[in-house]
Amino acid sequence: MHDTPRVYVTRQIPQAGMERLEEECDVFVWDEPTAPPRDRLVERVADLRVDGLFCNVADTVDEAVIDASPDLRSIATMSVGYDHIDLDAAAERDVAVGHTPGVLSETTADLGWALLMAAARRVVEADQQVHDGEWTAWGPTILLGRDVHDATLGVVGLGRIGTAFARRAAGFDMDVLYTHTSRNEAAEAELASYGIDAEHCTLTELLERVDFLSLQVPLLEETEGLIGEEELRLMDDEAVLVNTARGEVVDTDALDAALENDWIRHAALDVTDPEPLPPTHSLLRHAPEKLTVTPHIGSASIETRSEMAVMTATNLLAGLRDERPPHSALADAGYE
Ligand code: DGY
Repeated sequence: MHDTPRVYVTRQIPQAGMERLEEECDVFVWDEPTAPPRDRLVERVADLRVDGLFCNVADTVDEAVIDASPDLRSIATMSVGYDHIDLDAAAERDVAVGHTPGVLSETTADLGWALLMAAARRVVEADQQVHDGEWTAWGPTILLGRDVHDATLGVVGLGRIGTAFARRAAGFDMDVLYTHTSRNEAAEAELASYGIDAEHCTLTELLERVDFLSLQVPLLEETEGLIGEEELRLMDDEAVLVNTARGEVVDTDALDAALENDWIRHAALDVTDPEPLPPTHSLLRHAPEKLTVTPHIGSASIETRSEMAVMTATNLLAGLRDERPPHSALADAGYE
């Protein structure tokens, strides 16, 4: 343990977060635009003998990383999701783990709608055509999309982000269906105050009825591969799938087949499995007519990323003082 704690930050972060860390710690930063390869991460944590690790969704924080420094006692991820961290290992070793729930819900819901609208009205294709010099005349039958207003929206997972996403449907007079571990009456009441009568149903029923499907579940054992071939075949062949949750919630091969065989009309993905999606990946052979992909930018607004950085720093510093982080992943995952 060092008098001034040593903290390793796995990427450049917004300034406000850095300033917060520098008030109390010696800070070391991985200065590359890409994530440190796992072996390098283990090496840096060990060589610096860090007390704290400030990480994000692109870092795999497994047992080897956690064991690399005998002084490590606090980890904080700049994300709400903590599926990239071995919580069992952290809990066993009494290492605090912080995360950032709430702060990014509205921003991530915004991006979900950007993808939904772009897919419905073929915005990416349309822009591409203009850039390619193919805008030759107004055409009564070109680039026809689907109406969003009055359509049926299905939200799988009505938690914080799912509810923020569903709330935005009020402006489009949509019917809203949802699945959740059980009926979420608090979220239903919130949505009702916006004029939305959200209907709880089974995943099968939801898939059969939706025009637009939004995935909003965390990655857990029970949600991995939740949407596979059987589920995709239940959907209408004009339906659009939007995933801003985690890539692994959808079986990538099944999605590939769904787009190939027109089981659904479009997939709009902010998250993929694997991530990043290599340019040679078979999914990317599908044209923008069928597939839109953004590089995991759900929470990427200037305001939100700055707040996330400060919140992560605050969590990390609490752990370094041997206090429970204000937003503890171990507590939220039921370890404490
Ligand atoms: C999260 O916070 O878990 C997001 O996926 C990263 O923005």
